[in-house]
Amino acid sequence: MGCQDRQTMRWSEACERNREPILTVLRQWLPPGARVLEIGSGSGQHAVAFSRSLDGVQWQASEHPEALAPLVERLRSEGVRPDALALDVQERQQWPSCEFEAVFSANTCHILPPAGVSSLLALAAAVLQPGGLLLLYGPFQDGGVHTAASNAAFDAHLRSLDPRMGVRDAIALRAEAGGLGLSAETEVPMPANNRMLIFRRNADTSG
Ligand SMILES: C[S@@+](CC[C@H](N)C(=O)[O-])C[C@H]1O[C@@H](n2cnc3c(N)ncnc32)[C@H](O)[C@@H]1O
Repeated sequence: MGCQDRQTMRWSEACERNREPILTVLRQWLPPGARVLEIGSGSGQHAVAFSRSLDGVQWQASEHPEALAPLVERLRSEGVRPDALALDVQERQQWPSCEFEAVFSANTCHILPPAGVSSLLALAAAVLQPGGLLLLYGPFQDGGVHTAASNAAFDAHLRSLDPRMGVRDAIALRAEAGGLGLSAETEVPMPANNRMLIFRRNADTSG
């Protein structure tokens, strides 16, 4: 996905390209003063840009413990506080105990194994306040049909690298999220055949 080591920190060209379109969506959807948990922050480029650009929003970056160090390094070098959380979505004991108004994750669903995607949804359902938002950015397919040839090629590439990776199905994601109390609110088309899927935590937290 273009995540490379650049000295001790990672660097993603895609993050540079998609930062402004994602920011436009976040400005429209995040409530003032929102506490946002980002899952799989990677290089930290999004965390740096969004913490600086979204006034009053408290951006909490996180990463799998094995990929945490370069992220922490970037946040420190850019003066972004607080530091990133060590968070493997598949390790429930690492899930934060505090509440958030939003959970954001970019380009993680196709990297996580299916069980990891389920964990991400369950984590969001657990940490979001009633009415809180889950925003998932990336390529998705619909009912097994790719929305673009580039996404089909990317899916095949991912699966050749590791059969547990792959472009996920938005219809199946919505069904699974619904069972966890996360209702599909809308989706926003994004550049390069990506989408932002937006879910809202139901007021009834028993979902
Ligand atoms: C393709 S990168 C996307 C990074 C960044 N969000 C972006 O848009 O550039 C996928 C990220 O998911 C993270 N990741 C993979 N498995 C994870 C897990 N189990 N829990 C949390 N993050 C995970 C990886 O470390 C990696 O940073």
